[in-house]
Amino acid sequence: MKRLEGKVALISGTARGQGRAAALRFAAEGALVVGGDLLHEEAVETQRVIAREGSTALTPGPLDVTDEDSVRSWVKEAADAFGGIDIVYANAGAVRFGAIDSQPYESFTYTLRAELDSVWLTVQAAWRHLVARRGCVLTIGSTAGLTGSLTNRRTAHSASKGGVIALTRQLAAEGAPYGIRANCVSPGMIDTDGSRANLLAEDHPMRSIARHIPLGRTGTPDDVVNAAVFLASDQASYITGANLVVDGGWSTVLPGACP
Ligand SMILES: NC(=O)c1ccc[n+]([C@@H]2O[C@H](COP(=O)([O-])OP(=O)(O)OC[C@H]3O[C@@H](n4cnc5c(N)ncnc54)[C@H](O)[C@@H]3O)[C@@H](O)[C@H]2O)c1
Repeated sequence: MKRLEGKVALISGTARGQGRAAALRFAAEGALVVGGDLLHEEAVETQRVIAREGSTALTPGPLDVTDEDSVRSWVKEAADAFGGIDIVYANAGAVRFGAIDSQPYESFTYTLRAELDSVWLTVQAAWRHLVARRGCVLTIGSTAGLTGSLTNRRTAHSASKGGVIALTRQLAAEGAPYGIRANCVSPGMIDTDGSRANLLAEDHPMRSIARHIPLGRTGTPDDVVNAAVFLASDQASYITGANLVVDGGWSTVLPGACP
């Protein structure tokens, strides 16, 4: 049985990576997917794949989740097209890493805006629709929001993802009276275009991190999406305010000597 039959799901960042995988999978589970991305053409291509597989998707104009007007018109187009919104999946994000002693403030605020403000803007714009449908919110945190890193200098990313996890818990509290559930999925190291461009790049010290992950591999977008489908479905109807860590056990162990 399809687990998201007839649900209208707003998913940001559907051009590539986890957002693209989420759009394809949510559609296969019966959801009507409204995607969006800065990379508009690639997001439309995701929509075409969904249509070829016989499901329904819509990708209004280019979306910038850091721009309030852009987010508001995206939400409006989704609600107008499908009559409401059941699921908001705030996936899109962009990061700039840097050490505390050298990262420019502008780079810190860029990351906060792209990873935290973006989630708040998206959820706020869709909130009244979620109230109307007793909908649900999915956010994407990170193990970076839970633990520090000895290898990767990332105060901005840690702060924004810790903020996403905290924001999600508060959304759970404020949403509960309306029947809205809000949950976060916190991935560890996932192999995507985004991570290949930085942490998994050939010259980065973290490229061999799989050796330190208890389950012995980096994650795939589908590992994250599996958790997201569950949390968005009725099977999770008594779960709200959770932060489901999808990291192969990476954040549960202390670093040991290299085998
Ligand atoms: N890859 C990982 O290891 C990892 C780990 C933990 C958390 N995450 C989080 O997962 C989410 C998805 O990451 P990914 O690895 O798939 O990244 P990705 O870079 O492969 O994909 C991100 C997508 O978001 C889009 N995007 C970025 N900024 C945008 C904006 N302002 N407006 C609209 N679209 C925008 C990009 O164009 C891209 O299509 C992010 O929130 C990221 O922080 C990733």
